[in-house]
Amino acid sequence: MIRVAAALALSLAAAPAFAADGQQLFNMQCKMCHAGGPMGPSLTGVAGAKIASKDGFAYSPGLKAKGGTWTDANLDAFLKAPAQFAPGTKMMISVPSDENRQAIVAFLKTLK
Ligand code: HEC
Repeated sequence: MIRVAAALALSLAAAPAFAADGQQLFNMQCKMCHAGGPMGPSLTGVAGAKIASKDGFAYSPGLKAKGGTWTDANLDAFLKAPAQFAPGTKMMISVPSDENRQAIVAFLKTLK
């Protein structure tokens, strides 16, 4: 019983730390293009939003043609291999590490 409680407390404590790591990764690998300038669309509210739906950003035809919404799975697939997820996308950077992608997606969900 005590062990279960300790594990639960640990996983609860781990959740915010996860997003914080994601923030650090985001600041290092994403922010330079995703701070709302012409280099990339703002990612505020991107989790759950329609793919390629920000007003005022000139998306590639490839990403626009993708359709659907940014679910966790779609964000993960895009970040793992952007050109495979949406052939013709203008975003070239990928995040090969499963752990880092998970942390970044968790952080993206906090951008509201
Ligand atoms: C060198 C610039 C650059 C960097 C670095 C970059 N991106 Fe992007 N990102 C773009 C561009 C450009 C697009 C639009 C792609 C298109 O239209 O095909 C985009 C699109 C996206 C989208 C889809 C947005 C939407 O409105 O549908 C997400 C999500 C995203 N990027 C996440 C990230 C994350 C997370 C990182 C860091 C790991 C990152 N990007 C790093 C340039 C960049």
